[in-house]
Amino acid sequence: MSKYKNIESLIEKKKSEVSDLDTLEKFRLNFLGKKGEISLLMKELSQLDADARKQQAEELNIIKDSVLKFVKDKTAELQNEAMQGQLTSESLDLSLPVNSQNGTIHPVTQVIEEVIAIFGDLDFFVAEGPEVETDYNNFTALNTSEHHPARQMHDTFYVNSSTDNMPNVLRTHTSPVQIRSMLKQKPPIRLIAPGKTFRRDDDQTHTPMFHQVEGLVIDNESNMSHLKGCLETFLKSFFETDSLKMRFRPSHFPFTEPSAEVDIGYKKKGNQLIIGEGDDWLEILGCGMVHPNVLKNVNINPDEYQGYAFGMGIERLAMLKYGISDLRTFFDNDLRWNKHYGFSSINIPSLIGDLS
Ligand code: DAH
Repeated sequence: MSKYKNIESLIEKKKSEVSDLDTLEKFRLNFLGKKGEISLLMKELSQLDADARKQQAEELNIIKDSVLKFVKDKTAELQNEAMQGQLTSESLDLSLPVNSQNGTIHPVTQVIEEVIAIFGDLDFFVAEGPEVETDYNNFTALNTSEHHPARQMHDTFYVNSSTDNMPNVLRTHTSPVQIRSMLKQKPPIRLIAPGKTFRRDDDQTHTPMFHQVEGLVIDNESNMSHLKGCLETFLKSFFETDSLKMRFRPSHFPFTEPSAEVDIGYKKKGNQLIIGEGDDWLEILGCGMVHPNVLKNVNINPDEYQGYAFGMGIERLAMLKYGISDLRTFFDNDLRWNKHYGFSSINIPSLIGDLS
């Protein structure tokens, strides 16, 4: 009979007492810990003569291995049980109502959603492009050649990669999405492209990253009055006022001809801006008829097709509509600011429901 019958039956008895990871750990220490039963028996082996030592060590090692195997298997079994328990107790019921107390929608996201809702209703679709753009799409294809002064005005961030031997850039405006979209899709085109833009500028009225939304319409009949009608519809809808005053000032952009900047009328009441009243003017966007060179660059025949484009700053729209005075606060991630200016996550802007 084995010398180790006692410990074997003790092991069997203790095994049946293991019910969770804690008792399993106790079990392990009880037998395999420094002062555990098996470890002590191992130490005793040194007092035996060589033959007995060899034989008993073999027996003891078999017992030790079986304890190790039990601990390993039981650990896996108990961990699995714990995981199953957790999965059932922490399951997520997706049909439960959203807890609108948790987090808010950032004004930039809110305004982008509002802009999409309005232009969506006017049959525009949403186009996207990458934030790291080729110099060609950001400038050259938009009729802004290498030495064009407009390139300086954009304070471009260049990145450490290149396309056709020209460094890539962080797009300085959303206008390159026009190029990508016209290369992909034949007219008629009606798109808006909201997204992040970047310029090397940082002061009270500029942040190195900001958001714009681009608009582009290409077909064979659009003209300046369509552009004006479209922008007027948008601005009235966005500022939720029928009395919006709007004026077009001649301007210059390389990618449009003629080009204009649009101002809206406002008055100041205390610290508040009231859009649609008063005799003061605020610049709100740039626009114009797409330059024939831009159409040629994307293989669209300017004798057959024409169209208009516009671009505006999302933060600026948000500041005017929601009375936010400092641009930089948009990106401070101050939770108090987010809570104050943020929007409920359950009110999705729509023209049928509420825009804001
Ligand atoms: N890309 C111009 C800017 O960032 C804005 C702009 C002006 C866009 C006129 C247009 C446009 O599409 O027609 O300043």
